[in-house]
Amino acid sequence: MEQKIIILFLFLFSIFKLGYSVKPSPIDVIYEDKSFTFIFNSNLPYFTRLILYQNQTTPRNEMAPNYFDCSLVVANKRHCLFHSDEPFSRLWGSIYSKICARNVSSPVEDCSLRVSALDFYPLPSNLKYSKKPKTSGEDIIITGSYLRFMGGPNFLINSFDFDNPFIVKGNFSDPSFDCNYLTVTIPPGSGKCELYYDETGLFSVPFSYESPKISSTVSNLSKQILVINGDNFFTNKNLVRVSFDGINQPNFIISVNHTQIQVNNFNRVDPGPMSVNVSVDGISIENNYIHCSPAIITSISSVSNHLGGTVTIKGEKLSSTLNSSLTPSITIGDKKCIFIRSKITELECRLDPNEYGGKSLSVDVNFGGCSSTSPNGVSFTYNFPTLSSGSYSNGIVTLIGTNLGTNKESLIQLYGNEINDNISIDQFNVSSDEKTLSFKLPLLRCKSFNIKLTRSNISSNTLSISASLIINVISRSTVSNGTLNIEIYYMDCQVSSSPSITVGNSFSPTQCSIPLQSLTSGYYETTCPTPYGTGINKQFLFKLNSETVSDEFSYALPTVQNSKISQGNITFHGNNFGNSTSLVQVYLNGSDITSEILELEDHQFTIKKLDSFENGPINITVDGNNMELLFNLKLPPVIYGITNKDNKAIACGGLITISGKNLLTSDNEFKVKVFANKRNTTVIVQDEKILIVRDESKESPLFVSTLIGDDLGPNAILTYLEPKITVIPPIKIKKEGISIRVGGVSFPGIFNAGLALSSENVSLSCNLQCSLSPNEILYYSDQNLSSSETDITDSTDCLSCHSNSSVDEISGLLYLQLGSTSFNYDVKIEKVKLSLSPSPSNGSERNSNSSKLSGGAIAGITIGCVAAVGLFVFLFGFVFIKKAR
Ligand SMILES: *[C@@H]1O[C@H](CO)[C@@H](O)[C@H](O)[C@H]1NC(C)=O
Ligand SMILES: *[C@@H]1O[C@H](CO)[C@@H](O)[C@H](O)[C@H]1NC(C)=O
Ligand SMILES: *[C@@H]1O[C@H](CO)[C@@H](O)[C@H](O)[C@H]1NC(C)=O
Ligand SMILES: *[C@@H]1O[C@H](CO)[C@@H](O)[C@H](O)[C@H]1NC(C)=O
Ligand SMILES: *[C@@H]1O[C@H](CO)[C@@H](O)[C@H](O)[C@H]1NC(C)=O
Ligand SMILES: *[C@@H]1O[C@H](CO)[C@@H](O)[C@H](O)[C@H]1NC(C)=O
Ligand SMILES: *[C@@H]1O[C@H](CO)[C@@H](O)[C@H](O)[C@H]1NC(C)=O
Ligand SMILES: *[C@@H]1O[C@H](CO)[C@@H](O)[C@H](O)[C@H]1NC(C)=O
Ligand SMILES: *[C@@H]1O[C@H](CO)[C@@H](O)[C@H](O)[C@H]1NC(C)=O
Repeated sequence: MEQKIIILFLFLFSIFKLGYSVKPSPIDVIYEDKSFTFIFNSNLPYFTRLILYQNQTTPRNEMAPNYFDCSLVVANKRHCLFHSDEPFSRLWGSIYSKICARNVSSPVEDCSLRVSALDFYPLPSNLKYSKKPKTSGEDIIITGSYLRFMGGPNFLINSFDFDNPFIVKGNFSDPSFDCNYLTVTIPPGSGKCELYYDETGLFSVPFSYESPKISSTVSNLSKQILVINGDNFFTNKNLVRVSFDGINQPNFIISVNHTQIQVNNFNRVDPGPMSVNVSVDGISIENNYIHCSPAIITSISSVSNHLGGTVTIKGEKLSSTLNSSLTPSITIGDKKCIFIRSKITELECRLDPNEYGGKSLSVDVNFGGCSSTSPNGVSFTYNFPTLSSGSYSNGIVTLIGTNLGTNKESLIQLYGNEINDNISIDQFNVSSDEKTLSFKLPLLRCKSFNIKLTRSNISSNTLSISASLIINVISRSTVSNGTLNIEIYYMDCQVSSSPSITVGNSFSPTQCSIPLQSLTSGYYETTCPTPYGTGINKQFLFKLNSETVSDEFSYALPTVQNSKISQGNITFHGNNFGNSTSLVQVYLNGSDITSEILELEDHQFTIKKLDSFENGPINITVDGNNMELLFNLKLPPVIYGITNKDNKAIACGGLITISGKNLLTSDNEFKVKVFANKRNTTVIVQDEKILIVRDESKESPLFVSTLIGDDLGPNAILTYLEPKITVIPPIKIKKEGISIRVGGVSFPGIFNAGLALSSENVSLSCNLQCSLSPNEILYYSDQNLSSSETDITDSTDCLSCHSNSSVDEISGLLYLQLGSTSFNYDVKIEKVKLSLSPSPSNGSERNSNSSKLSGGAIAGITIGCVAAVGLFVFLFGFVFIKKAR
């Protein structure tokens, strides 16, 4: 290349030598866009005009005439100003163009001089390039003046290759073509060169391809490559230099001509910025380019919004190994998270409490201007509960974690394998830092379960926990041939084997049944046989798989189902009596009758029946086990006597009193039935010691017989006494008519009554009413009492008679037929004034008017005819209640 230029010079020089002995030679040139002036010494030859050649042989004939105006001479310098009718933008020609000159003294022109011989001429000026060409080559626009004054016109010589000039586009012959505006096609290439606008080779203008540009860098760590995307990288790797942080990277290829470089063996463990430099053929990138090695965020822990706290970010490149002082700044949502520490895979920062909380916030980690944002699906949410560990001990589950919340916000769910139902727990204790939580574990079928905490609809991870075996004895064992039902909790549901129990100090365990799920409770249940025994709180060991628990059970309570009396003994049938008399106590009516036990077996025991036994509850205690429901012992009734109050007579209205004991029974076996003259009687009153019945017939004598169950009991013959009238109060005449009351004893049921007056006979209708005594106190059929005379003097019977007739007389004869006996009494008749109380219950008034009857000790007896039999019965009841107290 150098050589060519030199050859060109020599060639030009020789031409000059041939044409001129004294070369017309300007001493300077002054040029602007639209004018140029050669300057000569005023005594030497000077130029007259230009003849521009389009090529070596042919001048530009189309060009308009031109000339130099050299009339101005100043200070011995001749100024030759160029004039042309063509615009300056059309000044173009080759180095073969010629310039005409003349001597000062002669006007003769010499046009043999070639412009290429000139030392001074207008050089290209105001050069402007539309751009630097890409290394891939492109057309550029070059503007300026005098661009093609001495060269081309369609070739632009460059120092890359003198043989291959750049092509200048355009038809220079076209008069409208602007030579100050050239379109030049630059081929693919790189680096810097010189452009020669004229072809003398003396004047060069530096030129370069566009500098390399980096638009992006993409690292692929798994392939250990970094791809640099950009432009102007050319095609020749040997011309390219790549460096990272100033360190040359030899191992690369141009993976796409001009636009992409791939650096191999790229291995950068650090996050943060890395400066990337590329130079192509000595031209470097213009602006520093930073490749960011991003921190990689794969997970983010959470904190409570009321507590704030440490957030843990996990991922890769979270710490700089090369520069320990390069710490990241972290932003969560719009909040700063203060850096605490980091290692390559984990970073911790502190977040202040934030009353508003927040959900799905993105996290940004920025190392030295290189920011990395959490990818889709990885975000920060306040109060995200996490469980790190859980343990079970003594019925309590303790969980360790973060953001566990409070009872109000959080819910614990237990679930499992198909074996345990899902269970929610909302009562638990949480530490104030929300890191420890404990709760009482409900009973579960299986020992292993999963646990999860949900806070404000956000669920934690799941932990698996195992509880240890617990059992619950849900039954008592019968004394003999007993079994225990045992409910099993926290069983190892993966293994099915049968448990065993070892009771007390026994060496040999006994097998239980394979645990099955109970239909009622759902828990597993097993049945274990127990040895013969009695009592409570028996220790035993329960062994299932590898676990052993101890517990205790109790033998079943004694129960009595029935009793049988035979041969004067009472045998009780039932269960769980055991066979050791020393462990058994028997109470009847609260008194200890244990010593009366004749025989004891588990299912029955016999006691000797004593006369002193009364009906009552039997209470058995076996080795500390009491009966739950006492058994009511029924002894057969005993009848002492069939009496009335005088032990002979039938009471008013046919009442018969049976005395004895154990009379109160509804059992057919021991039921007492009373018959009067073989007819049924009606039971009026009944207790253990007395039975009062009524015979409606009022026959006398009366054969009273009894049945105890189906057995005949005692019998007696009762007769009525002669009726006695003990008191007759005055007869009252009321508005309604006549009213008469008559007191006495042993009134039979059949009577006739009438009142004989002077004027007429009035017949009376009467009702018999009874009381047991004037003081309403019941006569017990106590034999001693029956002989007492005082008791029968009182009126226990009463007749209440009346007639609708009205009477005006003040005395009359009362006629009464009681049974077979007739009575006649003179009676007074009183009118009852209307203003008086209709109630005749004033005893003292009656007393003062009583008729004194001869033959009877009457003295002041109150007659209260009881109005109704119902009340009568009621009074009996009342009396019994009073006595029972
Ligand atoms: C110069 O140009 C003319 C006209 O285009 C042409 O005829 C001639 O052959 C050319 N001469 C040379 C040496 O190229
Ligand atoms: C100018 O003068 C010189 C001698 O003085 C002569 O050799 C030359 O031919 C002349 N040139 C012209 C164009 O007259
Ligand atoms: C160039 O322009 C001239 C003048 O207008 C014209 O005669 C000639 O044909 C053109 N040449 C080409 C190749 O277009
Ligand atoms: C890239 O450039 C080289 C050298 O010029 C060439 O050999 C190669 O074919 C080009 N590759 C493509 C894909 O254009
Ligand atoms: C206990 O069981 C055995 C065997 O089944 C049986 O022979 C025996 O009669 C049972 N005893 C009682 C009291 O049920
Ligand atoms: C029942 O009593 C009789 C006599 O009172 C006695 O001989 C007999 O052994 C007793 N029976 C039982 C089973 O104790
Ligand atoms: C009670 O019965 C058991 C089982 O039949 C027996 O082993 C034990 O010896 C008996 N005890 C007494 C005191 O009879
Ligand atoms: C039965 O007897 C036991 C032992 O004396 C006593 O503790 C228990 O209360 C009694 N049961 C009833 C219902 O009276
Ligand atoms: C007596 O009582 C029995 C049982 O209550 C009954 O079957 C019978 O018919 C009664 N007889 C009369 C005569 O009422």
